[in-house]
Amino acid sequence: MALVTFSSPEYRDKTVYAVAGSHTETVLKLARENKIPVNFQCEDGECGSCVIKVSSTDKKLERMGGPLTEKEKAVLVEIGKLTKEEMEQMIVDDLPSTWRLACQMIVRDEDILVEY
Ligand code: FES
Repeated sequence: MALVTFSSPEYRDKTVYAVAGSHTETVLKLARENKIPVNFQCEDGECGSCVIKVSSTDKKLERMGGPLTEKEKAVLVEIGKLTKEEMEQMIVDDLPSTWRLACQMIVRDEDILVEY
């Protein structure tokens, strides 16, 4: 069980439980199930409209979500959230990305803050 807190300047923070480990539940799916108005369009990692900023609220774990998908890597660079160099460095160092796409990021068993 993971606690996911959604935070936006326009809405009140909302914390929801996520059933982790299924490897199918994306942050976007979780948001929609809980009526949290995270932006989205394609739901397929193409448009970048669902970009979110993710941080850990569970200091035990460093990793945030499942690994970035190839589409996600390309879109995050394309929309200017990460440079190509930053992306490559992150992959080399095996570090999690602060910027993710809500429709691509799979929730793991960790507590996170999602800013949208
Ligand atoms: S909704 Fe288009 S990239 Fe996520």
